[in-house]
Amino acid sequence: MAAWLLLASSVLLLLASSATAQDCSTRAFSNGRSYRLCNALPVLGASIYYTYHAENGTADVAFRGPSGTDGWVAWGINTVQGSSMAGSSVFIASQNGNGVSLLDTYLETTSPSFTKGNLKFTVIGTPTAEYSGGAYTIFVTVALPGNNTRQNTVWQAGPLNNGEVAAHNFGGANLQSTLNLDFLSGSTGASNSRLRRRNIHGVLNGVAWGVLIPLGAMIARYLRVFESADPAWFYLHIACQCSGYILGVAGWGLGLKLGSESVGITYKPHRNIGIAMFCLATLQVFALLLRPDKKNKYRLYWNIYHHSVGYSVIVLAAINIFKGLDILKPASGWKKAYIVILATLGGIALCLELITWVIVLRRRRRDADKAPHGSNGWNNGA
Ligand SMILES: *[C@@H]1O[C@H](CO)[C@@H](O)[C@H](O)[C@H]1NC(C)=O
Ligand SMILES: *[C@@H]1O[C@H](CO)[C@@H](O)[C@H](O)[C@H]1NC(C)=O
Repeated sequence: MAAWLLLASSVLLLLASSATAQDCSTRAFSNGRSYRLCNALPVLGASIYYTYHAENGTADVAFRGPSGTDGWVAWGINTVQGSSMAGSSVFIASQNGNGVSLLDTYLETTSPSFTKGNLKFTVIGTPTAEYSGGAYTIFVTVALPGNNTRQNTVWQAGPLNNGEVAAHNFGGANLQSTLNLDFLSGSTGASNSRLRRRNIHGVLNGVAWGVLIPLGAMIARYLRVFESADPAWFYLHIACQCSGYILGVAGWGLGLKLGSESVGITYKPHRNIGIAMFCLATLQVFALLLRPDKKNKYRLYWNIYHHSVGYSVIVLAAINIFKGLDILKPASGWKKAYIVILATLGGIALCLELITWVIVLRRRRRDADKAPHGSNGWNNGA
């Protein structure tokens, strides 16, 4: 049920709306520049004008960002999916008494050093900037990274401090200044294939490691106390864990692929926990083949091993799903949904744990009563 809810909502997410560009060839810029397409950007009053050249994969861009004379604006392209500031190659326009200047820099972190150069794409010609009518305009021609027409564009505006670029606000608009833009068609939105694959990775792993595998563990722990459920619990457990493992490995492989494609930034903890989970889960599958017979004296040790590795995987999975949600930053509802799923599974486990104890204690008592004197009638019907 939870799994289907997750899947259904992911489909909705993938169908997220997208907007289209206007024709902007009529708007003239200085030096007779004009552009084929433009988009009003959703925040900070900025807009972007551009012409894409398919012959050589370059785009001429004019970015217009309102600012006072005591402020700076920046425009750029982020080549690291899932982040906005870190991983961006940007052009920052600012001014002092000597006029407008433009700095191009790669932002390694969210507290950048503004070292000139090191952009993650080729810039053609010399970018320029000008200030007029309460706005900066940045003119650049870039070779779109990966020769991909769809790019994550970023922009920003902030104050100057003695002519130096100072930190921008951290209010809503300043944190929403990213847009996935297709320089060929002008369409915007979350429809790029990488984002879709990231969502698939999230859903697959959420369902596999976050739902099926804990569910399988609960089946093994709680269903087996009912004598009538033997050996059904065993096959249900195997079915849950196997389907969880297969889906989980598919999601894991997709995650590794996404990781290898992410230029510049690796999500180390998320990646390492994922690899550890895969190793432990694979160990579980192979350990099944070595499972000693119930009567075997080593069976106890095997059980201890099987349980500790299994529970470790479940705990690691929960941690890693939260880490993944932090990276993917889907609508906040997703984190809440996962917390609800986790709490539900936990709540059910707690109830079943209590019921199991009651059943086991009663059974022990009955067996103890039976052994020396047979039934005394107290336990009948229990
Ligand atoms: C790319 O192609 C356009 C259109 O043909 C041309 O104007 C521009 O100079 C080319 N740029 C480079 C770097 O070759
Ligand atoms: C970019 O792709 C276009 C067509 O898809 C191709 O004609 C062009 O040569 C490519 N440019 C580079 C630099 O790979």
